[in-house]
Amino acid sequence: MTIQWFPGHMAKARREITEKLSLVDIIFELVDARLPLSSRNPMIDEIVQHKPRLVILNKADMADSNKTALWLEYFAEKGKKAVAVNSQEGKGLNQITAAAKEVLFEKWEKMRSKGIRPRAIRAMIIGIPNVGKSTLINRIAKKNIAKTGNTPGVTKSQQWIKLNKEIELLDTPGILWPKFEDKGIGLKLAISGAIKDSILNLHEIAVYGLEFLSKEYPNRLLEIYKLDAVSENTLEAYEHIGKLRACLGAGGIVDYDKVIELIIRDIRSERFGPLTFEVPADFEVSEDKENVVEVPINQEP
Ligand code: G4P
Repeated sequence: MTIQWFPGHMAKARREITEKLSLVDIIFELVDARLPLSSRNPMIDEIVQHKPRLVILNKADMADSNKTALWLEYFAEKGKKAVAVNSQEGKGLNQITAAAKEVLFEKWEKMRSKGIRPRAIRAMIIGIPNVGKSTLINRIAKKNIAKTGNTPGVTKSQQWIKLNKEIELLDTPGILWPKFEDKGIGLKLAISGAIKDSILNLHEIAVYGLEFLSKEYPNRLLEIYKLDAVSENTLEAYEHIGKLRACLGAGGIVDYDKVIELIIRDIRSERFGPLTFEVPADFEVSEDKENVVEVPINQEP
């Protein structure tokens, strides 16, 4: 699987975010609750620097709630405030205000102590494509049609959407790319639907999906595909699933392409229920290594 980073796009996205940083008090870093670290941009820490941040685990409805709890603990241990939401149905969005206020508590207290009247907190959403940035913004905008107009001193007019009296959100999110070069991350992004199928090897994604289910959710694999485990011979599994779900071609022969599409679709559409593709423990060993990998990227002009 070879996916490029598109350095030109990356530099532009980075510039746009950097320009807007001074307009906001806090960054809402949107990640996918099913793969909270793999759906981050590895450069985000460097781009956002010391700007206060709230991590929002979106699509929590599609994730395994026990594992979401582990992730919330993980971020808390790292000193990062995080909340889990479902932007599509607007569930959990009311936690965002309280969490943002908590992150900015000291700064706001300082302003108050200097006699500055507290104003609304200004926020910007940043995240990789498909993580749900537009959905969250639209959800908030629909409920709160009144926009607050332009901000003086900004060359290009920016619209702010009022989440409530206390928070205003920049209406254009910052888009960054995930870490494509790591194959494991690429497969998780692919199985979750974050990367378009056309640039990936679908067979590899389907096999990854089956192996993941076999290891992490064997009961669901048994229930849905009547498979005990996935044997070394993937074609046997394809044959079995193809017959079970009538993925057949001419002459009643199992059509592997159809089986592959079915597996990927079933996983993405929650036929196996809510799934989480990674847990904090998966990263305990590799985090140091990850920092090393980021060094050359950080040196980008
Ligand atoms: P983006 O701006 O970050 O690129 O993402 P966008 O809002 O377009 O959301 C991508 C897809 O994810 C959309 O599905 C959207 O409905 C879905 N989505 C966003 N937030 C949530 C959530 O909290 N829960 C669930 N279940 N889904 C969510 P889509 O329009 O159907 O696109 P697709 O599924 O065809 O990719």
